[in-house]
Amino acid sequence: MALLKRYGVYTAIAAVFLYLLYTLSFPYENNPNAKKPQDQNNNKQKPLKTYDWTKIKFQNPIEDVIPLPSNEPAPLPRIQFEFKEEEANAKNIRIKRKEEVKKAFEKCWKSYRSKAWMHDELEPIAGHGKDPFGGWAASLIDAMDTLWIMGLKEEFTSAIKDIEKINFGTTPLEVVNVFETNIRHLGGLISAYELSGDKRLLAKAKEVGEMLYHAFDTPNHMPVTRWDLKAKGEGKAQVAADTVLLAEIGSLSMEFTKLSQLTGDSRWYDAITRVTKELERQQDSTKIPGLWPIVVNAHTADFTGDSGFSLGAMADSTYEYFSKMYALIQDPVYKTLYEKSMAAAAKNTFYRPMVPENTDLLIPGFVRAENGKLDVQAQLQHLVCYAGGMFALGGKMFSNDDHVSIGRKITDGCVWAYKSSPAGIMPEVSHLYKCADTSSCEWNETAWKDAVNARTEKEKNPEKNIANLRLPQGFVAVDDRRYILRPEAIESVFIMYRITGEQSWQAAAWDMFSAIQKHTSTDLGNAALSDVSNDNPPKMDSMESFWMAETLKYFYLIFSEPDAISLDDYVFNTEAHPFKIPKAKK
Ligand SMILES: *[C@@H]1O[C@H](CO)[C@@H](O)[C@H](O)[C@H]1NC(C)=O
Repeated sequence: MALLKRYGVYTAIAAVFLYLLYTLSFPYENNPNAKKPQDQNNNKQKPLKTYDWTKIKFQNPIEDVIPLPSNEPAPLPRIQFEFKEEEANAKNIRIKRKEEVKKAFEKCWKSYRSKAWMHDELEPIAGHGKDPFGGWAASLIDAMDTLWIMGLKEEFTSAIKDIEKINFGTTPLEVVNVFETNIRHLGGLISAYELSGDKRLLAKAKEVGEMLYHAFDTPNHMPVTRWDLKAKGEGKAQVAADTVLLAEIGSLSMEFTKLSQLTGDSRWYDAITRVTKELERQQDSTKIPGLWPIVVNAHTADFTGDSGFSLGAMADSTYEYFSKMYALIQDPVYKTLYEKSMAAAAKNTFYRPMVPENTDLLIPGFVRAENGKLDVQAQLQHLVCYAGGMFALGGKMFSNDDHVSIGRKITDGCVWAYKSSPAGIMPEVSHLYKCADTSSCEWNETAWKDAVNARTEKEKNPEKNIANLRLPQGFVAVDDRRYILRPEAIESVFIMYRITGEQSWQAAAWDMFSAIQKHTSTDLGNAALSDVSNDNPPKMDSMESFWMAETLKYFYLIFSEPDAISLDDYVFNTEAHPFKIPKAKK
């Protein structure tokens, strides 16, 4: 998932109000005194009221629903490499690796089933369940398509009757994150339905869709992204917020469009198209024309005001979805959104990091646009690693070789960052040394050390600084040392492999998987790490649902036959749920 995904994000950007927005939205993550959802569960005073979303009244009904386009899809350019017959030896190694990944998944799944079934997450050390996502069995729904892809069909089928019991009419949460519910629950149910054809899953996806549709019931039809579900259920009026994260307003498009395609009901497509129209209308009027700031105003539908820009956390999947939306409906609007935003990102947000190997790498940084000047900060987020796959895929879809080459350089950058870290795993957020320009850049030890010293106040001995801060060569700061089982790097490595057919990507993937398994594995599953710049990183008791949904799926697929979920047949949502690309009826 590329995406916003909540942790570690506040370190990414210094803006205080963002931090506040964040803290307020997830009080139990950042504030140890705040009540956790499970505590709220425990002191049940009165039973939660359940709402039937198909019966709740709309305050701002849509009179003129924008219909799904009815054009027959034209064939898209070929995305995947034309793979040849595989050598016997390479095949043996590949299959062994694939089985190792499957084993890792099965361990997590079994523990989840026996210790945290129907909860959102399993604590992989204590073995308890927890419910940060509404108590709607996030891990179960998120992992369904992985079960199917790994051939665990009995587990898949037997889980459906429990999925049917999930009640989307209520939640103990005060605030529902519409984006997370959309990508995990709606996305997971849609892809589980498309892979299996089991109508019960589509019915459940529709239930989630009926609920989330109510978040769009505002005077200007922009969604409420941090949503008081109960207030809406009680019929209270709602307005969209003044500060909304770009990723949270822009990445409902794939799931809502697919749901409309599968049900023949255009309401969901209508809802996201109103957001798309705003993105389109304002694309050239922001402080970096082509891009939108990380924070936008949904209340006034003004997406131009702020000055912080990034392809990474809190913005990411809005960009990621443009080319994928094009694959789903072939509306030229999405091609234009892709082309303009990616051109602007390539021109204004990239930097080349100075590395001892002098490799030609590119990283999308964080950009502050003020008084007509752009300041590109040489930040490296684990989250931004999805951008390699985004450029490579978009380059194939729109026949732009430069974008494939950009995708390669970004993915190489992330593989490099994994290799450079003591644990063999890239940290959540760090800063690198930015080369003067992207065309050439020789390693300069002195310049690197000076840059490290410039960021520290007391110690002026660079060797001591580097040792104290445990900085790998080329890193000038590690701002957030965690690894929380994220998928973005393997996601791009997988896409690069399928597009180029180069086995070096499988080798890189295996190194990443081995390091992750070695350090995160517990008796029950896999645990997030608190410090990957330690040779022996300490574990945290967390295993987010994206570990089974995304990270292990991409590791499994890179060691599968290339026609397993071919990129010519599917686009992945930002939670790694594959959606079928509509094909012309022959
Ligand atoms: C390396 O960096 C230092 C400090 O910025 C600078 O003085 C020196 O000229 C650089 N060396 C080369 C070969 O560019």
